[in-house]
Amino acid sequence: MSTDVPQPTNPVANGKPVLEARGLTKSFGALQVLRGIDLSLRPGEVLGLVGDNGAGKSTLVKILCGFHSQDGGEMLLEGKQVRFNSVEAARAHGIETVYQDLALIPQLTVYQNLFLGHELTMLGPLRFLNNRQMRKLAREYLDEINVHVPSVDAEAERLSGGQRQAIAVARAVRAANKILLLDEPLAAMGARESRLIINLVKDLAASGRVSIIVIDHNYAHLFELCDRVNVMQGGKITIDRPVHETSIEELTELMVSSYRRQLEQVREGGA
Ligand SMILES: Nc1ncnc2c1ncn2[C@@H]1O[C@H](COP(=O)(O)OP(=O)(O)OP(=O)(O)O)[C@@H](O)[C@H]1O
Ligand SMILES: [Mg+2]
Repeated sequence: MSTDVPQPTNPVANGKPVLEARGLTKSFGALQVLRGIDLSLRPGEVLGLVGDNGAGKSTLVKILCGFHSQDGGEMLLEGKQVRFNSVEAARAHGIETVYQDLALIPQLTVYQNLFLGHELTMLGPLRFLNNRQMRKLAREYLDEINVHVPSVDAEAERLSGGQRQAIAVARAVRAANKILLLDEPLAAMGARESRLIINLVKDLAASGRVSIIVIDHNYAHLFELCDRVNVMQGGKITIDRPVHETSIEELTELMVSSYRRQLEQVREGGA
């Protein structure tokens, strides 16, 4: 077989889209945030989403996971049109999310958060929660992936920001069976926890069983994790490229020039 043909980074990242957005629009009052988003996520790939602060990245993720509903446009899951009216509905279709702003439920313990929405129950008609088993598995899982917390019985509000975020990502990685949406999963983290989470996501990606969208302002992280990158500007996806066809320098230059254009528009508007 010829070795001249360029190979994709991820061999399974070639199939038909597992998730597609077509012409998604969303406004908050007079502010139109999404102006026709076309996006496709292929089976087993990691897609990076970049854009300025306020570009609408989190809004898009919150539509894909059923937290917000879109004003217009459609979403297709494995080729079938879907409309989720809750996060639970999206989760039932195998879509797990780590939110930028609401990572864990503060009053629940570490192990309760880890099993949120996927609680283990005892056998028998009353289906009592199997707390002992969840505690044990939570301890084993966190040890396995090297996440250190004081105790699996600690309430999430007593953890540091980085620990909380690590638990939130670990929870979603464990629960995801089709699609994982990660909105700035490394934002609150130090170097050790960032490395740990990057490796966790890379392992999941390498398994090929889950497709991932990740938002991160750190392009070095994105280039390490992603097969493809989409740039969001003016409420649309303006660039869609495999990472091997772009570079950190090119993306940085793009974002800086978009920021300059916005500044000029503001100045012209104010003049
Ligand atoms: N629930 C809401 N109600 C009103 N406006 C909102 C709401 N959520 C987001 N917005 C506005 O929509 C715009 C896009 O916000 P969004 O959080 O999607 O941006 P982002 O690209 O994720 O930014 P960042 O990189 O800072 O996280 C912002 O102007 C924000 O103020
Ligand atoms: Mg955001």
